[in-house]
Amino acid sequence: MNILVTGGAGYIGSHTIVELLNAGYTVIALDNLVNSSRKAFERIAHITHKTVEFIEGDIRDKALLKKIFANYHIDGIIHFAGLKAVGESAEKPLEYFDNNVTGSLCLIKAAVAAHVPHFVFSSSATVYGPEAPVPYQETMPLGTASNPYGQSKIMVEQILSSTSAAVNNFTVTLLRYFNPIGAHCSGLIGEDPKGIPNNLLPFVTQVAVGKRAQLSIFGGDYPTPDGTCIRDYLHVVDLAKGHVKALQASVRQQDGQVHIYNLGTGRGISVKEIVETFENVTAKAVPYTVAPRRVGDLTAFWADPSKAQQGLDWQAEHTLEDMLKDAWRWQENNPEGYGEN
Ligand code: NAD
Ligand code: WQD
Repeated sequence: MNILVTGGAGYIGSHTIVELLNAGYTVIALDNLVNSSRKAFERIAHITHKTVEFIEGDIRDKALLKKIFANYHIDGIIHFAGLKAVGESAEKPLEYFDNNVTGSLCLIKAAVAAHVPHFVFSSSATVYGPEAPVPYQETMPLGTASNPYGQSKIMVEQILSSTSAAVNNFTVTLLRYFNPIGAHCSGLIGEDPKGIPNNLLPFVTQVAVGKRAQLSIFGGDYPTPDGTCIRDYLHVVDLAKGHVKALQASVRQQDGQVHIYNLGTGRGISVKEIVETFENVTAKAVPYTVAPRRVGDLTAFWADPSKAQQGLDWQAEHTLEDMLKDAWRWQENNPEGYGEN
């Protein structure tokens, strides 16, 4: 089966391509490299001994999309391409809506015109909104996102749901990720943020490798056991495998419906637990200070992952120690990431 992977050079996309190739799929990757490196594809080839057809381009390029769907018989799409920095999205809302919403719209229109039957979308736990009680369950209504990034995920979920209802044989899977961390165990692919990392783990590993002096823990006065925020961190390889299982389920069902799954471990971990466990498993020090809370951060959330377990036969298998060891192996072996930032 030919699978079009948008955003395939990125962090989650590259790990998912490895799992797709291992499972026997043929992969066509489309990426404009705005937040990634083409070197990811060399590394993927090294890991899998298989190659990917890489097309450098933008999901908003309608002519390019038309050409891709004419040249390849695409059986399914996994759509990762998008901008993902929450803070930046508040400063550049139009850029985020254009890239994430208009871009997705272009892709969905082209997919429908080409009669592609399976569409898997990278959504986020952020769509539940601050009102939702924990653990988050798929039956809960979409919430209100406080930033354009989160709003764009809600909008694309709605566009896909309406499209699936109106178009025959367009099966949609919305995967709501919690906090992916870690890297492939080879240490060859991993998260390579441009500039100062927004997310916790790349910041921690950059402090450990000496690129940054210290970590700021955002908020030490939350109503949690140690005062720091709680999240559901999952290994990116488990997340990648979840995409393969979602695609397989979509192909099995072929029901033209929308399927929603949380991909998380079901376990909440605090920021301090992350830092302490990282120090224990890597024997590297991570100096930190406790800084003021970051605007928009929620105190604590985690997944109820039971629907994915039942519907996809998927569950996160790696431990927190695995995630942190693998994140460190990637950082230690590649102190400058892919070396292009
Ligand atoms: P990433 O930035 O590493 O990957 C996204 C990729 O999309 C990059 O390679 C980038 O170059 C590409 N891209 C962006 N805009 C594009 C465009 N217009 N046309 C073509 N390519 C484009 O991010 P990631 O962490 O791998 O995230 C992948 C997806 O998962 C994103 O949609 C993100 O919003 C979503 N997601 C990520 C997380 C997370 O914590 N990493 C959590 C929930 C959801
Ligand atoms: C995790 C915890 C921070 C950095 C965001 C998006 C979400 C999804 C994942 C993409 C929080 C704390 C962080 C630092 C810190 N994104 N932290 N110091 O905020 O849960 O989720 O990324 O699709 O939509 O909102 O992840 O990694 O930024 O933060 O103390 O330097 O680490 O306050 O508690 P978050 P994160």
